[in-house]
Amino acid sequence: MERSFRIAPSILSADFLRLGEQVAAVQEAGAHQLHIDVMDGHFVDNISMGPLVARALKRIARVPLDVHLMITDPLKYLRPFIAAGASHITFHIEASSDPEECIRQLREQKVGVGLAVNPDTPAERVLDFVAQVDMILVMTVHPGFGGQSFIPQVLEKIKVLRGKEQEIRRRMNPRFALDIQVDGGIHLETAVEAAIAGANVFVAGNSIFGEPDPAAAVRAMARRLKELQSEEKP
Ligand code: DX5
Ligand code: ZN
Repeated sequence: MERSFRIAPSILSADFLRLGEQVAAVQEAGAHQLHIDVMDGHFVDNISMGPLVARALKRIARVPLDVHLMITDPLKYLRPFIAAGASHITFHIEASSDPEECIRQLREQKVGVGLAVNPDTPAERVLDFVAQVDMILVMTVHPGFGGQSFIPQVLEKIKVLRGKEQEIRRRMNPRFALDIQVDGGIHLETAVEAAIAGANVFVAGNSIFGEPDPAAAVRAMARRLKELQSEEKP
């Protein structure tokens, strides 16, 4: 089964005074979704944005809003983000006392379900949830800040999770498909490394909005991933 590669610019690294303009530019360049990093100053040592920003972005979004909750007690905040227009919501396994209930509520509201796993958390912690979610977000930096360096040790975790997807397809559901998202320190080279390990959704903040021309950065990443796909074909 051919995986489709998707690019999710993280607006955490955008120029907030020109947010609408920058979002329009990356959408025009072919970004597949907009990644919204929500930080509470508790689960991570930073505070970013909440449902108000998601709601404003929804007014100009032509692609899905991909909300990444780096917050304690995600269950409490699912509804405000759903009401704001989130298409997928990802919560952290480390932050949730009741992942099944988060999954149930997101499914009930027909919102895509993502489960995130920090660099120090082993794949085993999420393996039993793989069959129940749409996406696993493998953090490739310790969450909290944009502009950090990719941690190569997590590549192994991506491989294990892609293997689990294949096992589910063989044993339970031949149509099962898991998105594996990587987030943190993703640029052209690390995107390729992550893709080879099995990732197919690439969050990039600094390597897109830190560039003078964010649209060109999206196009360059799309081109590189497309090349990789054609190299992979026999
Ligand atoms: C990190 C956030 C990321 C961040 C990525 O805690 O989850 O989405 O914006 O930024 P870069 O691509 O700059 O590492
Ligand atoms: Zn993120």
